[in-house]
Amino acid sequence: MDSAELEASSHGGASREQAPLSPRTALSQDATKKGRVVYVGHDKFGTRVPLDELRKLYLNELPGRVTDHERRTITYDGSLKKYPPVRLLRNCDRKRILVTGGAGFVGSHLVDRLMIMGNEVVVLDNFFTGRKNNIEHWLGHPNFELVRHDVVDPFMIEVDEIYHLACPASPPHYQYNPIKTVKTSVMGTINMLGLAKRTKAKFLLTSTSEIYGDPKEHPQKETYWGHVNPIGPRACYDEGKRVAETLTFAYAKQEKLDVRVARIFNTFGPRMNENDGRVVSNFIIQALRGEDLTVYGEGDQTRSFQYIHDLVDGLIQLMHSKAHEPVNLGNPDEYTIMEFAEIIRDTVNKEVRIVNLPSTTDDPQRRRPDITRAKTFLDWSPKFSVMQGIEETVEYFSKLANDL
Ligand SMILES: NC(=O)c1ccc[n+]([C@@H]2O[C@H](COP(=O)([O-])OP(=O)(O)OC[C@H]3O[C@@H](n4cnc5c(N)ncnc54)[C@H](O)[C@@H]3O)[C@@H](O)[C@H]2O)c1
Repeated sequence: MDSAELEASSHGGASREQAPLSPRTALSQDATKKGRVVYVGHDKFGTRVPLDELRKLYLNELPGRVTDHERRTITYDGSLKKYPPVRLLRNCDRKRILVTGGAGFVGSHLVDRLMIMGNEVVVLDNFFTGRKNNIEHWLGHPNFELVRHDVVDPFMIEVDEIYHLACPASPPHYQYNPIKTVKTSVMGTINMLGLAKRTKAKFLLTSTSEIYGDPKEHPQKETYWGHVNPIGPRACYDEGKRVAETLTFAYAKQEKLDVRVARIFNTFGPRMNENDGRVVSNFIIQALRGEDLTVYGEGDQTRSFQYIHDLVDGLIQLMHSKAHEPVNLGNPDEYTIMEFAEIIRDTVNKEVRIVNLPSTTDDPQRRRPDITRAKTFLDWSPKFSVMQGIEETVEYFSKLANDL
C-alpha cells in the first residue's frame, strides 16, 4: 500500500498480510489501529481522490436544501447548485458509462467516482431499493443523466462501458418478490448484454459471494462451484446471479463480448438503505435508537465485511483489467456476527443488549473470500480497516438519526 494513503501510523492498513489471526485478536488489533485511509483510488486509473472529498457527498447537507426536523419538512429553494469538481478530460478520453442500479448503495458510490474521474455517466434505475437522494448532488450536471427504467425491459443507448448492478441485494428486498428478482437477474442481464453486444461496450456484472451458497470450501476461491439450495428462500437471488454469470460468459464466448464479473462479498458503508435488514446497518441503527441488537442464531456464523470505497476501487480496477474470469472482491478479515454486534455496541451505545433470535433458513455459516486473483490481476486489496469503516458508517447514520 502507498504510505501516502494512510495517516502516519505504525500499524499499516486493513489487509493484513501476516499469518492469519483469530477473529477476536484481529478485531481488537483493528480497533486500536491508528492508521486511517485518507486517499482512495489509484493515479494509474485516474481514480485517486481524497477521502474527505467523497465524504462531503454523503455527510454534508446540499446547498439549496433546508430540512426542518421539528416540522418534518424539507424546502428546496431552487438556488443554483454548486457541483463537486470533476476532472477535465479531452472529449476523446471521456467515456460514456452506463450504471444500472446507480441509485442504490454500491451504484451511487461508483457513480461518484466515475463522475469525479471526468466521465459521462448515465444511471438507469427503477428505484425499487435505490433513492434519488443518493445521487441528487449530480442531478443537472452536464456529464450526468438519470433515467427511470426497469432493466427487465430493453433499453437503447450508445455507451462505452456498462456496469450492471441493477438487482436488489438484501434478503428482505430480494425475497419480497422472488419472481421479479429472477426476472431482474435473467432478463435484465440479457438486455444489458444485448446492449453491450450492439454498442461493443465493455460489460461488468456485479455478481455475489452468494453464488457459493453455504460453502463447503473455506475460504472461497473463484474455482469453487458452490453449494446452493435451488428452491430455498435465497434461491431467487443466488440462482438468479448464477444464471447472470452463465449468460455473461455465454455472450463472451459466443458473441466475443469483453466481459468482467465481480463476485462481491458483504459490503457496508454510508447510503445503505436503513430498512433493508443488512447486518451492519441493522446493528448500527438499533444501537443509535437504543434498541436491542438482534443476532439471528447463536451469532457464531462468520462474515467478512469490506468498506464501500474499497469495493468501488476494485470494480473500477476490474473494468480496467484483463481479468476475464470471475474475481472475488471482499475483505478477507473474518468475524463472527456476535463479534460484530459487540464492536458496534461498544462503538455506538454500550447500554444496549445483544439478543438472539431464531436463525434464518439457509443462512451461510462461513464466508471469507480468497482474494489472490484480485491481488494478482488487479493489484487490488482492501485498504480500509473494518473499524474505520464502522466509524464512518456510524457518523453517516448518526446524521440521519433524526429521520430514522
Ligand atoms: N452490497 C453488498 O454487500 C453486495 C454483495 C454482493 C453483491 N452485491 C451486488 O451489487 C449490486 C448492488 O447492490 P447494492 O448493495 O447497491 O443494492 P441496492 O439494493 O442498494 O441497489 C440495487 C439498485 O438496483 C436497482 N434495481 C433493482 N431492480 C431493478 C430493476 N429491475 N431495474 C432497474 N433497477 C433496479 C434498485 O432500485 C437499486 O438502486 C447488486 O447487483 C448486488 O447483487 C452487493
